[in-house]
Amino acid sequence: MQVTLKIQRFNPEKDSAPYWKEYSLDMHPNDRVLDALLYIKNHIDGTLTMRSSCAHGICGSDAMRINGVNQLACKSLFSKVGNNVTIEPIAGLPVIKDLVVDMEPFMEHYRSVLPFFINDDPAPEKERLQSEEDRLKFEESTKCILCACCTTSCPTFWATDAYVGPAAIVQAHRFIFDSRDQGSQQRLEILADPDGVWRCRTIFNCTNACPREIKVTEAIAEVKKEILFSKL
Ligand code: SF4
Ligand code: F3S
Ligand code: FES
Repeated sequence: MQVTLKIQRFNPEKDSAPYWKEYSLDMHPNDRVLDALLYIKNHIDGTLTMRSSCAHGICGSDAMRINGVNQLACKSLFSKVGNNVTIEPIAGLPVIKDLVVDMEPFMEHYRSVLPFFINDDPAPEKERLQSEEDRLKFEESTKCILCACCTTSCPTFWATDAYVGPAAIVQAHRFIFDSRDQGSQQRLEILADPDGVWRCRTIFNCTNACPREIKVTEAIAEVKKEILFSKL
């Protein structure tokens, strides 16, 4: 199939504003948008800049706006996206060049929720055991690959980047509901901040954008409920 990719280009060292550039190439319906981008980069225009690594939906590095929807380029088949495809960087983060954004503001929010296991008890001889039922409470949030598709599709985050964002809340959820962790109270206090979970207006873009099919809005609602129960 003949495809046309209309890609937003921007080199802040040279360009005063972003502009569109079109590339036409022959692809198979089962090729991914990432295949086309790599072909352009390697054979047509070496100046095109994007991130990618695993090419299999695991590293989360190639999130971009494809036909107006945040997706991973390595999981977007031409049979699904069609043959006229617009590609832009994810929104709400500063563009470094072309499709590469500065992930630091996103990572800062991620770090702010203490996304690591906290338990000061002496380590047991073997592993810290947990029932299957307890494990299921945070099963979904362990699937997050920090791709930022959710946070950068959230209108609340576009309006104020002080909002911690859905990805950070999902990461906090992973530990808040882990029966072996002792840092839940600290995380709930952090997320009870005006720029924490209460900034979420239940818009659901995050859930629709998640390539791991995590029920992001539901996870946020669970954290909100936990804060209310904790009377913070
Ligand atoms: Fe990506 Fe989903 Fe994690 Fe958000 S919750 S960062 S969309 S994997
Ligand atoms: Fe934003 Fe998702 Fe809430 S899109 S407002 S974080 S439900
Ligand atoms: Fe790793 Fe797409 S390149 S998720």
